[in-house]
Amino acid sequence: MKITVLGTGYVGLSTGVCLAEIGHHVVCIDIDQRKIKNLQEGISPIYEPGLEELLTKNIGAERLDFTTSHLEGLKAAEIIIIAVGTPQGDDGGADLSYIEQAARDIAEHLNHNAIVVIKSTVPVGTNDYIKKILEERLKKDITIKMVSNPEFLRQGSAMHDTIHADRIIIGSDHEEAAKKVGEMYLPLHVPILFTTIRSAEMIKYASNAFLATKISYINEIANLCEAVGADVQDVAKGMGKDKRIGEAFLNPGIGYGGSCFPKDVKALLKTANIYGTNFSMLKETIIINEKQQHLLVKKAINRLGDLKGKKIAMLGLSFKPETDDMREAPSIKIAHLLSQMGTDVVAYDPIATNNAKKVIGNIIRYANSAFEAADGADALFIVTEWDEFKQIDLTRLLQKMKEPIIFDGRNCYGIEKLKSCETLEYYPIGKPAVIIEKQ
Ligand code: UDX
Repeated sequence: MKITVLGTGYVGLSTGVCLAEIGHHVVCIDIDQRKIKNLQEGISPIYEPGLEELLTKNIGAERLDFTTSHLEGLKAAEIIIIAVGTPQGDDGGADLSYIEQAARDIAEHLNHNAIVVIKSTVPVGTNDYIKKILEERLKKDITIKMVSNPEFLRQGSAMHDTIHADRIIIGSDHEEAAKKVGEMYLPLHVPILFTTIRSAEMIKYASNAFLATKISYINEIANLCEAVGADVQDVAKGMGKDKRIGEAFLNPGIGYGGSCFPKDVKALLKTANIYGTNFSMLKETIIINEKQQHLLVKKAINRLGDLKGKKIAMLGLSFKPETDDMREAPSIKIAHLLSQMGTDVVAYDPIATNNAKKVIGNIIRYANSAFEAADGADALFIVTEWDEFKQIDLTRLLQKMKEPIIFDGRNCYGIEKLKSCETLEYYPIGKPAVIIEKQ
């Protein structure tokens, strides 16, 4: 099939590349000229494992092309996928300005009938709204059919999640259009659920808000485990064995971040407010998440007292491993809290430092390695669970520090690794501390 994707962010690019990989002819359109030029040469604007390989392979096979021209890009499209961003607006709801612009661009340049698929995460009712924008502007005699097809991929495993998705949701009021979009995905052999447009829009928000709430729930259980002397990892394992609960997304930590959960929970809450249903549970999900981002600093104050003039090494800046994305990363809050207290913070991240500099700026210092960050530190915070930190030589790391104190926000270490250290004070999340005193 001939497919055109609007927007080359995480979702648009991953979708375009994967659809080309399963044999379709894909053109991706973006207004950013530099980005398109790089993509034409196989250079990805984002760090995503496996993406560049598939990019190069499919450009080479002439199944994948990039352009800034809507006229050129839409020329042969049977299916047009809108995958532009819907960032958080000032009022907590989704900002639809990019998607509105995408609709205006399609209307202006489309010269044949086509199916328009909205893949961007959009509040319930947006497909109808975009359809109206399109129909008001499309050339005479040209018709489009709308399909809602939300995306569930995770950053850091975008290729895998797209190719091996748990499910594909196709919402449409046109049976034929829904069938055609279903056929587009057929080579993936993924179960497809056909719904109405509004149900499909809702499934995306309901899923993300549920997962965010699951994380806030386990974080509160972790806090309670610390208070009563239980081990949250055993508790989560025990809970997760019940198939009705499931083991995934029960890792406690210092709060969820990223480009989806924080904004989607707020957007769903806004929709609930608009329609007059009081979804107060979501308010708690948000409050717990904000509180959780303070946890490491709170623990450090409890242990070290005033943090003014103290040096803290911060390992990890991105909102999760395998990505350089800093959106809503807990590290931002932690850096601000510490710098407001006059703490000297030295941070290290394997990939995200450049992006972090743009977001956090020079209120903290940046190191080129974990060991450099730890040099002379009074304590160390683990903020992102990169493999590099999980596998690090802990003894060497601790030797660099002034005090061998670790506050681990991601429970990176098992007891065996900790026991191999000569001297250590280790404070994980939702588990008893591990203290090893020098003999
Ligand atoms: C999420 C959804 O998983 C995906 O389906 C949707 O399309 C986009 O949003 P993403 O933001 O890429 O994907 O990352 P994810 O792996 O879901 O993690 C989100 C946040 O939750 C991270 O900050 C992560 O550290 C945190 N998290 C996740 C936990 O704290 N505990 C967990 O058990 C899982």
